[in-house]
Amino acid sequence: MREVNILSDHEETCLAAAAWLCYHVAKRATGGFSLAISGGSTPDRFFEILSQGSFAAAMPWKALQLFWVDERCVPMDHADANFTSVAQRLLTKVPIAVRNIHRIPAEAGPYEGAAHYRETLRKYFGASAPVFDLVMLGMGTDGHVASLFPGHPALEAATDSAVPVIVSGGMSGVHPPVDRITLTLPLLNRAKAAMFLVTGREKHEVVRAVLDDNDAVYPASWIRNERTVWFLDERASEG
Ligand code: 6PG
Repeated sequence: MREVNILSDHEETCLAAAAWLCYHVAKRATGGFSLAISGGSTPDRFFEILSQGSFAAAMPWKALQLFWVDERCVPMDHADANFTSVAQRLLTKVPIAVRNIHRIPAEAGPYEGAAHYRETLRKYFGASAPVFDLVMLGMGTDGHVASLFPGHPALEAATDSAVPVIVSGGMSGVHPPVDRITLTLPLLNRAKAAMFLVTGREKHEVVRAVLDDNDAVYPASWIRNERTVWFLDERASEG
């Protein structure tokens, strides 16, 4: 089932997505709630909002188990690290326990970091394939989600796993142009729900190609969770 919410601008979209997330987690939090989040710049404001006032108060931080859908292979405290961005805006400001934060150690490199993260997933989810309660996704102007880029072999990975994404040989459209670690498509699709947060006119054409035509050129079209909730601003939706 797909739900599409269209808000007036970036701020309203982040507010609506944050409110939905707090409500969604609080309703299901007994026994823990596993959430895997994306990087990129779109959710910066969303993370700030979650750290503040009634949003921070509404989120059941003790129950929340935080994972990432992808990470860039840069030092942990690098400005391009997805973890650092969230740590600065959110994690240092709310009562989430360190043991509930399951980061991808991408500074170890794409292969070793992916192996460590697979072990992290195994420890939390056990031997069976991980089923996240929610994956939070962004989308690039090329339609990529997590670090699953159009035409990259990682997009075809058939395992429920975390895999290296090697781009250092040169692959256009990857910014910053560094290797990554990403959850695979089957694993993302296994999540009980997916939430997209996408804003800006530059993504409009791809948004329409994904939502109206399921255009397979774009990895975002391959996200087929049982429940998928989109948050868009008018620019991304209508151009
Ligand atoms: C990453 C991401 C990636 C991101 C999109 C959108 O680490 O780069 O997780 O999938 O969500 O690239 O990024 P922007 O929000 O910066 O457009």
